[in-house]
Amino acid sequence: MPLPAHRAARPSALRVVAAAAVLALVSGCTSSSAPERPLTRPSAAGAGAGAGASGASEAAGGDASDPLFPALGNPGYDVQDYTLALDWTPQGNRLTGTATLAIQATAELDAFTLDFHAMDVQDVTVDGAPARTRRDDDKLTVTPAAPIPAGRAFTARIAYSGVPKTITDPDGSHEGWMKTDDGAVALGEPAGAPGWFPGNHAPYDKAGYDITVTVPQGLTAVSNGKLVDHAVHDGRESFHWNSPEPMASYLAMVAIGRFRVSEDTAAGVPAYYAVDPEEESDRTNAIPATVDAMLAWADRRFGPYPFASTGAVVGHLPDLGYALETQTRPFFETAPEPDTVVHEMSHQWFGDSVTPRTWNDMWLNEGFATYTEWLWAEDHGGPSTRTSFETSYDRSGPAGQGVWAFPPGAPGSPKNVSGPPVYERGAMALQKLREAVGDEAFFTIVRTWLSDHKHGVVETADLRALAEHVSGKPLGPLFDTWVYGKAKPPKD
Ligand code: TRP
Ligand code: ZN
Repeated sequence: MPLPAHRAARPSALRVVAAAAVLALVSGCTSSSAPERPLTRPSAAGAGAGAGASGASEAAGGDASDPLFPALGNPGYDVQDYTLALDWTPQGNRLTGTATLAIQATAELDAFTLDFHAMDVQDVTVDGAPARTRRDDDKLTVTPAAPIPAGRAFTARIAYSGVPKTITDPDGSHEGWMKTDDGAVALGEPAGAPGWFPGNHAPYDKAGYDITVTVPQGLTAVSNGKLVDHAVHDGRESFHWNSPEPMASYLAMVAIGRFRVSEDTAAGVPAYYAVDPEEESDRTNAIPATVDAMLAWADRRFGPYPFASTGAVVGHLPDLGYALETQTRPFFETAPEPDTVVHEMSHQWFGDSVTPRTWNDMWLNEGFATYTEWLWAEDHGGPSTRTSFETSYDRSGPAGQGVWAFPPGAPGSPKNVSGPPVYERGAMALQKLREAVGDEAFFTIVRTWLSDHKHGVVETADLRALAEHVSGKPLGPLFDTWVYGKAKPPKD
């Protein structure tokens, strides 16, 4: 049987990497961009330094910093809810925002840091009282009038304005706030959220989001969740979006443009689609049917769709080089092929609902999303997952390179988070797990994984423990070989 089109196409990872290389060249030629400033500095401003600007030892949990992006996040507090009121003007790409964060202190806080790149901060209050602030590059330190005891709930409000930032990653890819020909797009994986709002921008701190975006009349502003209000006044339009389910900040999205909007349902879930007119095509028109079919199929394979709304945004950013599984409503940089739709929708379960605690475990996102593409093919007249495994294995070259360049569970460098081992060898590891425990146990493991950790955060050890529990088999050697092994494992 011939390979279906999506098997012949590039694996998602290769597309990301190829585009990243192009963008790296482009940014290397841009004299205005800061040369090679690493995003990850194991400095005192990072999460590892703890909650307080002073008194680092007060942080809960010791050194909780991300192994690949140690500068992101702060373990000393837990954001419950973000309320963002954003006003954007195309002239000069200016954003005026108010971020209201409902926070719970997990350590005593003399002061606390928020991840936020250099926009102007006008005013910061904690529980309504003015707080002192300090800027260090990509951290905003807030010192309330009095220390906040551990366990206390409080509200921080940050008023800011300026030109929001595009972030260039160690691998050369771009995220954060990006201007387009007819608007702007904000994407966050892995380190883009600090470019447009202050927060605790590590994947482990999930929160509810309420995002209102005001734009000039005639533009549409799309974000995550449900559109709860839309108002026009004084030549400006406001779009109010609400996401009650917890969301990691890298999955928050805003897309502004002259979109063609359609509303629908997919497998019974309210769906909102926004398409850049430049990307209108048969392929784009096919998205709602693919989403509908995918959600119904995944409900049977994986369990219930974890959110109250769905949809997609199709932008026109051919140079971006990647799509992103922005929560409830993936963002596609151009009209996507069906396998890419399946991939991003798979992330709604794997990554969005069940989120890795650190970027080190990115393979739990990309391995499962790639494996979902294999499973989808298997269930729709394409090759079996075993055949996809062998195809991947056979074309993946010698040890030490490509898919075998590093173990999926230990990328080692922030450059590697979108590398082929994270995607394809991650999917191979899941195929090996399926073969080791059998189909029945495998799908019980997958469904239990998704229901036990719904809206939570996880690490690889949790998957191994669950798989051993369900199957009754010791799986240490399998994980050591396929997830953590540096060597190219034998095929069978
Ligand atoms: N998660 C995206 C996908 O697979 C790809 C991606 C976009 C990505 N930005 C990234 C992967 C940054 C790693 C890091 O659909
Ligand atoms: Zn992915």
